Amino acid sequence: MMLEVRDLQISYRDQVVASVPTLDLEPGQVLGIAGESGSGKSQTALALMGLTRYANGVVTGSMVLDGRELLTLSPRQWRLVRGRDIAMILQSPRAALNPTMKLGALFSRTLRLHGMTKDQRGPRMVQALAEVVLDAEILDRYPHEISGGQAQRFAIALVAALRVKVLIADEPTSALDVTVQAEVIDVLRNLRDRHGTAIIFISHDLSVIGELADAVMVMRDGAVVEQGSAESVFNQPTQEYTRMLLAAIPVIGGRSR
Ligand SMILES: Nc1ncnc2c1ncn2[C@@H]1O[C@H](COP(=O)(O)OP(=O)(O)O)[C@@H](O)[C@H]1O
Ligand SMILES: [Mg+2]
Repeated sequence: MMLEVRDLQISYRDQVVASVPTLDLEPGQVLGIAGESGSGKSQTALALMGLTRYANGVVTGSMVLDGRELLTLSPRQWRLVRGRDIAMILQSPRAALNPTMKLGALFSRTLRLHGMTKDQRGPRMVQALAEVVLDAEILDRYPHEISGGQAQRFAIALVAALRVKVLIADEPTSALDVTVQAEVIDVLRNLRDRHGTAIIFISHDLSVIGELADAVMVMRDGAVVEQGSAESVFNQPTQEYTRMLLAAIPVIGGRSR
């Protein structure tokens, strides 16, 4: 198993906001995390990125990536893992991009910080942009000069270029129009197929998760209430709560999962 999470618990001042007993991920696998707002999805993502301490929260349990325990890493060690081994994209990727830097400079700088030489960076950027179907002329623009869908694809290009092992996508399509949503899902699928990137795809919308996920975890009030293969969770949910979330999926053109 590439990523093995056991008894992960996130708390603030002794109040537990999320508990994940088991989370396993193999290369190229997509795990969908579903649940209504406030169910603990983003807190789980934050913990998997080693960022909880910056919100004054406490994480206990175990999180092993390629045989290495991450929860005991120092902030300095985490900085080497974050962005390179495990990366995250968010609902508004533009907010994470430095507004004063052109995308080309930003891209190049990110690759340099992760140890790539100048000769390696150019071809790697061109290839990654092609993979996310962005024209290289975008490198000459500032973050505010691109659309939300382009910004999301640019963020995924960084992940592709760095050969990130685990991508955590927290509501990556929730702020986008439906057609743009579908494009971003395609780009994520392509990333998984081409590089074997494992993806933790978080959404309050089970229909979006159904597009991509091999396995599904349903959270409610900080707890995992249902977990299994996408097929079993969609076709034979064991919990009333999961059935309720599934019933909320609109049936388009008379077809439903
Ligand atoms: N800094 C914090 N201190 C205390 N509680 C927090 C903090 N951040 C988030 N929470 C609580 O954690 C719970 C889960 O939030 P979150 O993971 O953001 O939910 P989701 O992403 O599923 O909508 C919420 O009840 C929220 O109030
Ligand atoms: Mg959230």
